[in-house]
Amino acid sequence: MGLKVVVLAAGKGKRMASTLPKVLHLIGGKPMLQHVVETAFSLDPDDVIVIYGSGGHQVKSRCSSLNVRWVEQEEQLGTGHAVMQALPFCADEDQVLVLYGDVPLISTRLLRQLKQDTLPGGVGLVVADLENPAGFGRIVRNEVGNIVAIVEHKDAKGWQLDISEINTGIISVEAGFLRKALPQLKNTNAQNEYYLTDIIALAVSQGVPISGVLAHDNNEVSGVNDRWQQVCLERYYQQRKARNLTLMGVHLADNERIDIRGDLLVGTDSFIDINCIFEGNVTVGSGCFIGANVILKNTTIGDGVTIHPNSVIEGANIQSSATVGPFARIRPDTVIESNARVGNFVEIKKTTLGYGSRVNHLTYLGDAQIGRNVNIGAGTITCNYDGHNKFKTTIGDSVFVGSNSSLVAPLTLAQGATVGAGSTITRDVPSDTLVVSRAEQKNVEGWTRPSSKEKADLVK
Ligand code: UD1
Ligand code: CA
Repeated sequence: MGLKVVVLAAGKGKRMASTLPKVLHLIGGKPMLQHVVETAFSLDPDDVIVIYGSGGHQVKSRCSSLNVRWVEQEEQLGTGHAVMQALPFCADEDQVLVLYGDVPLISTRLLRQLKQDTLPGGVGLVVADLENPAGFGRIVRNEVGNIVAIVEHKDAKGWQLDISEINTGIISVEAGFLRKALPQLKNTNAQNEYYLTDIIALAVSQGVPISGVLAHDNNEVSGVNDRWQQVCLERYYQQRKARNLTLMGVHLADNERIDIRGDLLVGTDSFIDINCIFEGNVTVGSGCFIGANVILKNTTIGDGVTIHPNSVIEGANIQSSATVGPFARIRPDTVIESNARVGNFVEIKKTTLGYGSRVNHLTYLGDAQIGRNVNIGAGTITCNYDGHNKFKTTIGDSVFVGSNSSLVAPLTLAQGATVGAGSTITRDVPSDTLVVSRAEQKNVEGWTRPSSKEKADLVK
């Protein structure tokens, strides 16, 4: 007996009011469908089958890295019809687990519980108890408390509407039973759809045992049908991430003002101030200070690093005890070695800044290799681009670059060289040499400033 997970993702999602198919909308920076598929894979299934329809090409291309079987449902005739599309890929003895592409935060733990509680040859359902069950299928039980049917909200009458126990849609059942039951479904209901939920009454009539597994956290089984539900679930997701960080020993200034859109690992005793965004894979060491409004994307940060507020850092490796910002922009392929300092209004791209080196103000460094204990003065620019090609700047240990210098690449400043302020350097400089390249200063004595022409006219 194998496990086949079927993910229903063919619906249009009209209420999202978007050109993007619903299952591609993001939670925590990741398409909802990807969340579900990753959880599906955590169960070690034999196959994950995604039923797609509307906007299928977009869904497939955005999620092409997912190792799933794509099956098209040409017309969306209902959830029962959708599951039927997966049956050619299932053997009778396979267990089929139906998940929803728009219920993104379903947990592995709950699905394991469902598997455990589903009797052999029976049907397992994840149910929830909702204060406001409107819109959901209601779980109908008999006088001894056994589940006997699911009634869709639009088909429910009278007392059925008062039932607060609902169907989450997540169901586990043998493929052999589905192969017999699904073709018997009728679409004579309020929505003229073939409801998967109608297999419950069928199963009951055949003496098939039904188990309901109660979801304890309703967020795990919440579907996203509109953008309000999306943002509510996003906030829940972020709270959960924030909580995990604090339990790992991270000090957060505010659990409601942090956004994690990917995988974030942080060491103990690090402090994260308000409004920081973490995207992709980010690792932050221990004892770090991350200031307000910092954005970190696909970046590794060592221990004891300080990132001052409003810095934007992507694709970088910032080593222990370095300091960056405020208002620094660090672009991909940059290494800031230990004890180095990057100050305000500095942009760095594809550059290694060596141990203990300083670039404190108003500078652009691109395609540069910079040694240890170098001082880069305010307003230094590596001129790395001729309009077509990029060139490299190499700066040796202990070089001192005076303020407002242009370093025209390709260029090497050898160890210990000194560049006079305001220089434009176009040729290599040997070690321990002073280079000055600017117009000589002229002092003109007795020179008077021109007076304003208008004022002169007024005097006349
Ligand atoms: C469904 C359940 C309802 C349950 C609710 C939980 C049925 C008949 N009803 O209702 O009992 O309380 O989910 O959220 O199953 N889909 C397809 N193809 C189709 C139709 C739907 O792939 O032909 C997909 C949708 O993309 C969606 C999911 O199935 O991901 C659920 O469909 P939807 O129409 O939203 O069902 P609900 O009315 O919410
Ligand atoms: Ca729905």
